[in-house]
Amino acid sequence: MLLVQCLTVNYRNVSALRDISFKLRAGALVGLIGPNGAGKSTLIKALLGLIPAQSGRVLYGDRPLIQQRRQVAYVPQRSQIDWDYPTTVWNVVMLARSRHHGWGRSPSRQSVQIVGDALGRVGMLDLKDRPIGALSGGQQQRVFLARAIAQEADLLLLDEPLAAVDKKTEALVFQIYDELKAEGKTMLISCHEWGGILNHYDELLLLNQQLIAQGAPQEIMTPENIQLAYGLLPHQKHFHDSVEPLFFC
Ligand SMILES: Nc1ncnc2c1ncn2[C@@H]1O[C@H](COP(=O)(O)OP(=O)(O)OP(=O)(O)O)[C@@H](O)[C@H]1O
Ligand SMILES: [Mg+2]
Repeated sequence: MLLVQCLTVNYRNVSALRDISFKLRAGALVGLIGPNGAGKSTLIKALLGLIPAQSGRVLYGDRPLIQQRRQVAYVPQRSQIDWDYPTTVWNVVMLARSRHHGWGRSPSRQSVQIVGDALGRVGMLDLKDRPIGALSGGQQQRVFLARAIAQEADLLLLDEPLAAVDKKTEALVFQIYDELKAEGKTMLISCHEWGGILNHYDELLLLNQQLIAQGAPQEIMTPENIQLAYGLLPHQKHFHDSVEPLFFC
């Protein structure tokens, strides 16, 4: 279980997160939602200790999460990845295995197998020798999902993995989430999309600097909570399963 207590994060004079507390149960698929600037990326990075928190603590099991980074697979928001970095699809995913076979050493046969399987799972094995900069946005997202899979971590923190993906890829990604859940993985996934895909998550964390609500999607996506998070009146939003992902803040 992941336990977050009273997490507060400031950037110089910007108050990004205030007093965030929540628990994620093992094996849960949890969506992290909120408008632009709500602090979703900040929260994920603060959980990992990539940016300092002013106060609060993050425990995984009975120890600080930052002491157990091997247990965590992190996919940053795509705007934070250097897509011009001269490396191939295969090497990006193999990076997830480096701590298994040792930095600078040849990959083990097992790592080669795992990387191949992960790329196959996301439908990217045929493009394994492509430079990552020579992929479409959705293909790049698939590669980073493969990297998270190949790491074989227990906890996955994915920052907007569905940005730039089409409907077919989205369905594939949700199928993979379900498989990972069946393997007992815990996943916290930031997203902007409302509508049908909310049904895929066991729980949502609704964030806007503060944690506005946590719970089953249908329970917490009330007009009051939506207004608190997004500043919208209920009649100003469309919240219906049968239409395209509706809300890009
Ligand atoms: N490096 C930084 N320095 C100063 N302020 C920052 C920095 N990074 C983020 N912020 C601010 O912190 C707040 C939270 O930003 P964050 O990127 O976590 O939001 P987000 O919910 O991930 O937004 P988005 O949906 O656009 O990705 C915003 O007000 C943002 O301007
Ligand atoms: Mg973000």
